[in-house]
Amino acid sequence: MRVDLRSDTVTLPTPAMRRAMAEAELGDDVYGEDPTVNRLQERVAAMLGHEAALFTPSGTMANEIAVKVWTQPGDAILVDSESHILHYELAAPAVIAGVQVETYPIAEGRFEFADIAARIRIADDHTPGTRLVCIENTHNRCGGTILPPQQMLALRELAQQHRLRLHLDGARLWNASVALGAPLTAWTQHVDSVMVAFSKGLCCPVGSVLAGSREFIREAHRVRKLLGGGMRQAGVLAAACLVALDTMIDRLAEDHARARRLAEAIASLPGFSVNLHTVQTNMVYVQTERPAQAVERALAEQGVLCIALDPHRLRLVTHKDIDDASLAYAIEAFARIRYA
Ligand SMILES: Cc1ncc(COP(=O)(O)O)c(C=O)c1O
Repeated sequence: MRVDLRSDTVTLPTPAMRRAMAEAELGDDVYGEDPTVNRLQERVAAMLGHEAALFTPSGTMANEIAVKVWTQPGDAILVDSESHILHYELAAPAVIAGVQVETYPIAEGRFEFADIAARIRIADDHTPGTRLVCIENTHNRCGGTILPPQQMLALRELAQQHRLRLHLDGARLWNASVALGAPLTAWTQHVDSVMVAFSKGLCCPVGSVLAGSREFIREAHRVRKLLGGGMRQAGVLAAACLVALDTMIDRLAEDHARARRLAEAIASLPGFSVNLHTVQTNMVYVQTERPAQAVERALAEQGVLCIALDPHRLRLVTHKDIDDASLAYAIEAFARIRYA
């Protein structure tokens, strides 16, 4: 048996998505003429409570477009110390936008406003000015944790007070929304731009959407082109995303329930511990007594795939292609390897 818990990005499109992709109505999206892309962009903009939206090939590109649109070379941006933008986007803010990336601390997906406020810089003859604050929800490296929507208003006020833009990396915002039973707008109404991803728990083969004001999206369209992200008959991809909006969001609750079961089972095994408080959506971070890479290899030998993120930390992610049988198999594999 093969149980792939490395990421929700490994999910395969559903038969309904494949059918919709085959039948999609198409046009040249670089000219804004693909009706399926246009439908997706309009629908997502409305769901997120923003004026307009732009389909992008990846979440990374959408994040980096936002950084570039909101800044000038030589500005500073603030991201949290565990953020995807900092860890996994190849220093793109420096390379593409020419900005200095500074960090504020985060623990279990939560930050202190004072920590952000203390790091905001006012531009002068020596200092780059802070222009943008980025937040992430759910938070990947913090364990799929949820940023409480109650924090959004105060964050918005802080940003307004210092004339900063707010960008939300919402690659897994759907998961936060389903887990709390809160609308996406509980977070998105307070930010200037937001990215949501379709290629993770929603199982689409490709695609993210960036949303914001009409003016922001006009500029984002130019930057997408600059980065080589203009796609032509992209409706074949957007068609899958439209199916995902209808069929794949509510079911994320199943992934969350399985992640909790997995976390509780592993936490009860000697040699492993799990901070159950951080298991809020579809991710489980396991602390390992043995080096995580050795555990990763031992699990892989039994067909269970996960990722050793740190010397003693493994990441496991539940998703549509993990059913109860695969979950039980993965738990058995964990129970076995400590005797290997
Ligand atoms: C929180 C977060 N942001 C952004 C991304 C980037 O998305 P993509 O892989 O589509 O570039 C990821 C990818 O896993 C992610 O987890």
